[in-house]
This record gives sequence, structure tokens and C-alpha cells, in this order.
Amino acid sequence: MAEYTIKVRRFQPESGEGPYWEEFNVDLEPSLAVLDGLLQAKDRDDGSLAVRCSCRAAICGSCGMKINGQSGLGCKTQIGEAQELANKVASASGEKVDNAPIVIEPMGNMPVVKDLITDMESTHWTKIRRVTPWLLPHGDPPEREYVVEPESMIDITQSMACIQCGACVSSCLSMEADPDFIGPAALAKAYRFVGDPRDAETHERLHDLADDPHGIYDCTHCFSCIDACPKGVAPMDQIMRLRRKAGEEGIEDPNAGHAHEIAFVKIIEKKGTLDEAMLVQESYAPGIKGKLKPSKRSIRETIKSLPTILRPLRKRKVKLRQAIPGTHHKLPGDAMDDVKAIYAHAEEHKEEINLYIQGEEGELVDENVEKGIERSTDPDTAEAK
Ligand code: SF4
Ligand code: SF4
Ligand code: FES
Repeated sequence: MAEYTIKVRRFQPESGEGPYWEEFNVDLEPSLAVLDGLLQAKDRDDGSLAVRCSCRAAICGSCGMKINGQSGLGCKTQIGEAQELANKVASASGEKVDNAPIVIEPMGNMPVVKDLITDMESTHWTKIRRVTPWLLPHGDPPEREYVVEPESMIDITQSMACIQCGACVSSCLSMEADPDFIGPAALAKAYRFVGDPRDAETHERLHDLADDPHGIYDCTHCFSCIDACPKGVAPMDQIMRLRRKAGEEGIEDPNAGHAHEIAFVKIIEKKGTLDEAMLVQESYAPGIKGKLKPSKRSIRETIKSLPTILRPLRKRKVKLRQAIPGTHHKLPGDAMDDVKAIYAHAEEHKEEINLYIQGEEGELVDENVEKGIERSTDPDTAEAK
């Protein structure tokens, strides 16, 4: 048993006062959850401390909150680990701190109702409804259930693991800048239906999400939602899949994002590593160096990008030689053969090349996602949520 201090951001609307901080001392085993600490404080010190929870097992999605500034679930975050992080943050200025208060706040990007309880309706559920979160099949329904190949559901298993906790929404930096952004949870939900073979309105859904100025191109790839998600849904990856599918459907992307993505893949295929000097021209004009046919748009965009290109040159972060397209260094030895083998393998097996690699090789994926994948590949038990 160890003693911890939790520092809770409180807001009691009935008092007419603004938010304030309050500290509570709790005694818990380090392996117990931050939520257990909050419930102990509520039980022992102040019954008015408001926190939403139900399953206490990372299933119901009720206990989203910020712990030491990071969005997540109170019931899934061990208090011992939260203490270590609080100490690390407090020690950043130099002096070692052992018992820093664990800071607990309500989720971000949502109005606070009371203490740690946020209004999920206004920012989360409204946006989930925005993406039409149900199947839109065409034709008469079958007499019995729809039958799909279990393998065809694997692609959407990751997005099906979502428990609607809102932690990704809380951490989304784009949503801070643009509260109308549809957001990570709703877009991950959208992919769940876009990727479903029973849905017949894939093209319409993609058009809708691409045309909306607060849609799939409003995400800035900040990775925050991936870090926050307690179920391994990786909402940013689902958004990238939506963008890729939109590109494949020929939907015009105002940011040339799909062409930019293709440019990454093509340049690395050709050179082994990313020759950034070629990115602008490759994103707006077809062909690798030597076959370049600049379009009016590519010339316009290159001129518009000049300040961005010149800034690192002026600050000497990039040498002039590195800024000239086509002068990028070559990979040593026969490393280029390995790159070619990866591309050939991906092409042959129709695999997605993930440009957003996270974690270490061999690291376990979230156990629920892993279970979900196992479930969906088992023909006897495959199910669609
Ligand atoms: S990656 Fe995109 S959706 Fe995810 S938190 Fe960042 S901006 Fe938001
Ligand atoms: S995607 Fe993850 S973080 Fe976002 S609502 Fe679903 S489970 Fe929660
Ligand atoms: S209480 Fe259900 S997810 Fe935390």
C-alpha cells in the first residue's frame, strides 16, 4: 500500500464559482487504477466529487479524463504509473521530485458539466451521428442475415474496437483549432462503414467526408489520438485509410493530400529514403524525376511553397545541396534491394504500406484488438458490431 496525492480540477456549477484545484490523499496498491483513487476520495473525503464510471474494466468508455495532461481512461491507468509520470514531469526542471501530485482534469474539447464529467453529447455524439453510423445497403434485405466473408471484415476490426470513450477527441489538436472538425472518433467510426462490404454508399460517404471543410483533410497527423486511445483503434490511421480510399475513388482533394501520399511512396520506392526536395513537385505533377510534366497547378503550388522551402535554408537547417531535387544521397551497399523487396512483397500480397510505423517490432498490439482480429478471422464466431 502506498500514499498518493491526487490533484483534481473541480467545477461545481451550482456554487456559481469558477473551476478550482483540490488535493486529496489516498492509500492504494500501485497496481490499482487512478479511478480507484478518485472513488476513495469521494468515499472518504467529499461525496460531491463527480466522476462518471461504470464497468471499471476499460469496457464501457465512461471514465475518460486527463491524467497528468494525457487523455485516457481512469480505470485503465494504474496509479503507480501515473505517479511515476507525475514525478518525471515535476523533475523536468532539474530537482528530483518523488511524490508530485497526480493531476486529474476533465477531458478537453468538451464543455464541463461538473468536476470530471463532460458533456459528450455536444462534441462527441453529435459528430458520431454526423457520419451516418449505420449500414446503408442497397436492394432488398436477404431473408435471413447478411453473409460476408470473415476475411473481408478484418480491415475494419480495428475501428470496431472503439468503446466511444472520447479520449481521442479530448486530445485532438485540430479540434482545439477547429471545433467543427468531425474529429478522430467519428472518422474512425466512418471508416468502420466505408470498409464494410455490406455498405453500398461508400462513394457517397467518401465524397461527403472529403467535401466537408471540417472533414478528413482537417487532420494534421499529430498522432495525439493514437497515443490517447485505450483500445488501439489508432483513429489517425483510419483517417488516412479514408483519404486513401477517397483518392482511389478519384475524389478531388483540395490539399493534394492523396497525391502527396503517393509521392512519398514513389520517392521512397525510387530512392530508398525520402528526398524531401522532390515532395512538392511530385505532389502536384506526375512522374519521377526525368519524366516530370509540370502542370499549371504544380508550378502555382511550387511558387506558393517557396517561403516554406526557403525558411530552413535561411536558418541553415538545410544545405542548398539538399534542397535541389534529385541530389539526395543513395542508400549504401545493396540496401536498395531490400527496399525493392518490401515493395514487391506489398504489391504481391496487396498489403498496405504503413508510413506511420509505431512501436517496436514484436511488441504486442492492444489485447482487445488482437482478440478482435482473432474473432473476425474465425468463421464460426465472426460478427460485425
Ligand atoms: S492525428 Fe488528426 S485526428 Fe488525431 S488527434 Fe491529431 S489532428 Fe486529431
Ligand atoms: S477511438 Fe479510441 S479513444 Fe477514440 S472514442 Fe474510440 S476507444 Fe475512445
Ligand atoms: S469505468 Fe468503464 S471504461 Fe472506465
